[in-house]
Amino acid sequence: MRVLLIGGGGREHALALGLVADPSVEALFAAPGNPGVGEVAALRDVVPTDPAAVAALAVECGADLVVVGPEAPLVAGVADAVRAKGIPAFGPSAEAAQLEGSKAFAKDVMTAAGVPTARAYTCADAESVGQALDDFGAPYVVKNDCLAAGKGVVVTEDRRVAEEHARECGQVVIEEYLAGPEASLFVVTDGETAVPLLPAQDFKRVGDGDTGPNTGGMGAYAPLPWAPPGLVDEVMRDIVHPTLAELRRRGTPFAGLLYVGLAITAAGPRVIEFNARFGDPETQAVLALLETPLAGLLHAAATGELAAHPPLRWREGAAVTVVVAAEGYPATPRTGDVIHGAEASGVIHAGTRRAADGTLRSAGGRVLCGTAIGADLAAARDAAYELVRGIELADSHHRTDIAAAAVDGRIATPG
Ligand code: AMP
Ligand code: GLY
Repeated sequence: MRVLLIGGGGREHALALGLVADPSVEALFAAPGNPGVGEVAALRDVVPTDPAAVAALAVECGADLVVVGPEAPLVAGVADAVRAKGIPAFGPSAEAAQLEGSKAFAKDVMTAAGVPTARAYTCADAESVGQALDDFGAPYVVKNDCLAAGKGVVVTEDRRVAEEHARECGQVVIEEYLAGPEASLFVVTDGETAVPLLPAQDFKRVGDGDTGPNTGGMGAYAPLPWAPPGLVDEVMRDIVHPTLAELRRRGTPFAGLLYVGLAITAAGPRVIEFNARFGDPETQAVLALLETPLAGLLHAAATGELAAHPPLRWREGAAVTVVVAAEGYPATPRTGDVIHGAEASGVIHAGTRRAADGTLRSAGGRVLCGTAIGADLAAARDAAYELVRGIELADSHHRTDIAAAAVDGRIATPG
């Protein structure tokens, strides 16, 4: 089949590697892609959030499947526009993508579906903000009620910081703090049938020991050696299937990738957030372990045939990915620096570009990811950091503790 991949970050490089490894893929196109994606796909130019332009490109490429990576095109209706041309698209409709696009919508769906999540208030003025902060107490969780690329959330002990974030955002969702280790579960679904991938853990804070501001994610590993037995089954039964059923009931079925961001609390798994697409950088780790051909799986989801798809096969062992970020990330990343050492297998491109002089340059906050698999988590972690040591980017930074607590057995679920 001929596949068109939309997006150009680390997630899309990982998706591209998975798609070209599928023997059923005869041609892979990507737009806009990045230099890493360009090594395995034919790059095309398109504004990813322009539904008509993406649909036209899909026709031009003769695509049998369009895979939409990031959230913004989904919320803009890119998958709908592609499907309107009769081409299968992996990714939810604009309406179903509101599960990620609006925190208030997601809370409403969860309430209707009886899905366990933090109690929350949607607040649009200082008075209701004050009441919500009083009700829950510290630590305060204040979320921008619009797409914020993972950076619209403030978790703080400082009341003034919480109030200020609420003021800057306009409408916010203020919620109860959930205590417990976090997990990301990706679920491939055609709206009805749902297939979980291996659970992963992301590292949201910029600094070692979970310090500093939230980022898009600084590293990840899969699977989770500390996960309680039955975790995935429980999440599918209590969270995923009720959510999918509620969206079907509303007439806006969710087909694509349902990303369930969880806190594993004393009372069991609780939803922190839903996303409508693969997570970045968890995808780099999860797909490194997937043996089942990726294009076939995504095509089955895009065409409503997931029930007939064979069970997933996974490599033994574990995978770790470590993000190398630009100086200044997440606040104001510096771009344009020369990169060396990105040729090694396992180096995934996120924010890179090829300059006119042929050099590889940084072009975003998260620049590259060292992704490796190993016989166990410790071996995968060592191999990922070996890749990171080989990358040269002036003043870059990365976390040194990705997967460390899990390797050392220091992660415990409460209760
Ligand atoms: P989100 O964008 O909703 O995933 O939030 C970003 C990060 O903020 C999450 O990965 C958590 O680390 C943290 N966070 C969000 N909501 C909560 C909550 N209710 N309790 C504790 N931490 C949270
Ligand atoms: N890694 C977090 C996200 O993709 O939203």
